[in-house]
Amino acid sequence: MKKFASLCFALASTATLADEGMWQPHQLPSIATKLVDAGLKLDPNSLTNLTSFPMGAIVSLGGCTASFVSDKGLVATNHHCVYGSIQYNSTEENNLLKNGFLAKSFSEELPATPGSRIYVTEEITPVTAIINAALTENMSGAERYKSIDKSSKSLVAECESDSKYRCSVVNFHGGLEYYLFKQLTIRDVRLVHAPASSVGKYGGDIDNWMWPRHTGDYGFYRAYVGKDGQPADYSEDNVPYEPKHHLKVNKSSVDEDDYIMVLGYPGRTNRYRTALEVENQFTWVYPQAKAYREEIIKLIHDNSAPGSDARIKYESTLASLANYAKNYGSMVESYNKGTTLERKKSLETELSSWINATDDRKDKYGEALKGLNTLIQKDQQTQARDLILGYLNYGKMLSTANRLYRLSQENTKPNIERKRGYQERDIARFEQGMKAVNRRYDAEIDQKIVLAMFKHYQQLPKAQRLKSLDKFFGLDKNFNQQEFKNKLEKMYAETKLNDQATRLAWMKKSSKDFENSNDPFIQLAIATSAERKQLEESGEELSGNIQSYRPKYMEALIAYFNSKNLPVYADANSTLRVTYGNVKGYSPQDGLIATPFTTLEGIVRKDTGVTPFDAPKKQLKLIENKQYGEYAKKELGSVPVNFLGTLDITGGNSGSPTLNDKAEFVGLVFDGVYESIIGDWDYDTKLNRSIHVDIKYMLWVMEHVDGATNLIEEMDIVE
Ligand code: ARG
Repeated sequence: MKKFASLCFALASTATLADEGMWQPHQLPSIATKLVDAGLKLDPNSLTNLTSFPMGAIVSLGGCTASFVSDKGLVATNHHCVYGSIQYNSTEENNLLKNGFLAKSFSEELPATPGSRIYVTEEITPVTAIINAALTENMSGAERYKSIDKSSKSLVAECESDSKYRCSVVNFHGGLEYYLFKQLTIRDVRLVHAPASSVGKYGGDIDNWMWPRHTGDYGFYRAYVGKDGQPADYSEDNVPYEPKHHLKVNKSSVDEDDYIMVLGYPGRTNRYRTALEVENQFTWVYPQAKAYREEIIKLIHDNSAPGSDARIKYESTLASLANYAKNYGSMVESYNKGTTLERKKSLETELSSWINATDDRKDKYGEALKGLNTLIQKDQQTQARDLILGYLNYGKMLSTANRLYRLSQENTKPNIERKRGYQERDIARFEQGMKAVNRRYDAEIDQKIVLAMFKHYQQLPKAQRLKSLDKFFGLDKNFNQQEFKNKLEKMYAETKLNDQATRLAWMKKSSKDFENSNDPFIQLAIATSAERKQLEESGEELSGNIQSYRPKYMEALIAYFNSKNLPVYADANSTLRVTYGNVKGYSPQDGLIATPFTTLEGIVRKDTGVTPFDAPKKQLKLIENKQYGEYAKKELGSVPVNFLGTLDITGGNSGSPTLNDKAEFVGLVFDGVYESIIGDWDYDTKLNRSIHVDIKYMLWVMEHVDGATNLIEEMDIVE
């Protein structure tokens, strides 16, 4: 902790770049003056206490953020965060994605996607010393990896001795620091309300990542617990959870320049990567991954009609494929136009001279960057294979068989030694994942995806391909594309893994049972299992080796930044962070100014009547008649729809409540503008803007379009 004290002190005295930074709660006292200067009315120290207001009202959905907005466990988040659950409950006859959903009473609420969870972080403990105590200088990569894994697992097991908690050890600054997170885990999550996609996803993938924006990206879950108030699996007898804290909703919203902040769970940023990593990511990984995504999207579109059962099954997969295809595309564009790599390189040059300036630094850090880069280069040698194997996993039968067989193998070990994802603590979610396949799988489409991705796999140099996989499909001799296609077709016709009961039954079976099975996907899983494990092990060896350089490199970088009074906060890693700033427009290009608010009239202006610009008729009529109810804003002469902020966010912050200076709910953050996407690697104060749903729009649609008055009554609405 000592290190942090000095680090924080340095930060407190810097003129950090405004609004940049995803701060860990314990760092806030060090930026207290800045928070107050920016407009925060609460005591900044009050934000460090996880179990009091307002932190206690902020929750993670695992991948998205959300917040309690009533004393009956009502949870507000983004439409795109509850999208999987709407999709899961949709059928051709009852298409909730298209029509929206509103439970008028508790009994009408629907179970969320199997495996849905609500996590409330209650404790964060530094555990770096414990992890490091078990490490020695001359460990092999594999030994180092295993040691960290083992220490983490025992910390987690101890922390989870109370079964209502889920715990995890997370590394910061690439392994320079570790923290143990203890989270209350609510396992009965229900869908309460979501507007129609023509509101919640208005503008679709065309407007996604863009401004001006007119999307009603909100939805509601409810947390349920057992009658004793403790987390429990789904049961009809469960009761709404009564959180200790929930947010008040301030229907006055915010004005330009007002203070806003977001408390949430940003997923991943890469602001401290080396130039070598940056160049590779933007010139190889992103373009390649974008191409695979677009190919899969096209296959799904070509093989399912909009509104058909097959299409509904893939809507959630499609949304995330498209979301990141566009995200990668934008980053490559920004990279090609900008100077990211140049500046990365000069940073490394400056860092080297700083290191070489004293013997002490040279001793400590002299080898870090070089050592790290050598390992990264090694990793890059097989990245083409690793990426395509990853995308082959979009084939659900393939990945299901692999996971089930692996489970049977892991089950023979003592629980603590089992691989992550296969321990007793993981089984309930494993099972729920097996159930979710039902509404996420179509044999025809699955097969087409595998066929297409396998074609890319075939192009890999022979030395990189999996011998066992080649052998299974005859790639090793006289391979014939048509025969491959026939074989695949036969596999899909014969497999029973498409059946839920069969999948669940396999969860209980032994490896021997698998070996006796004639299910073709199980046979494939068995044939390739040993080789896939070898790949996994060499990955662990590499990752363990990287662990002996990356923390050193980060230590050097942090010391260097501190010497220049530059801000130091850890890259996002799906843990709780605070970002603050103001409501503000920006200039996306020379000659253009974006104003901070959009209004209802903009929806009408964009509307074509064709998806994704097909707002509900009722809504268009209300706008035409200027029926704003109580939600108009004087300065705008209309109801604000979305607004821009200067907050430093990324994927995972989605669904976070946007809070005003008193930590009242004034909207939801749901996106960033196109020009700021590269901010995940390279933050630019001038271009970085977050996009928020305005509370006024949310309440206006709920009251006037969807009649969700029961929820409006349930929330504490203030002015
Ligand atoms: N860009 C948003 C995010 O990553 C997701 C929006 C989902 N909407 C969509 N059209 N795919 O948080």
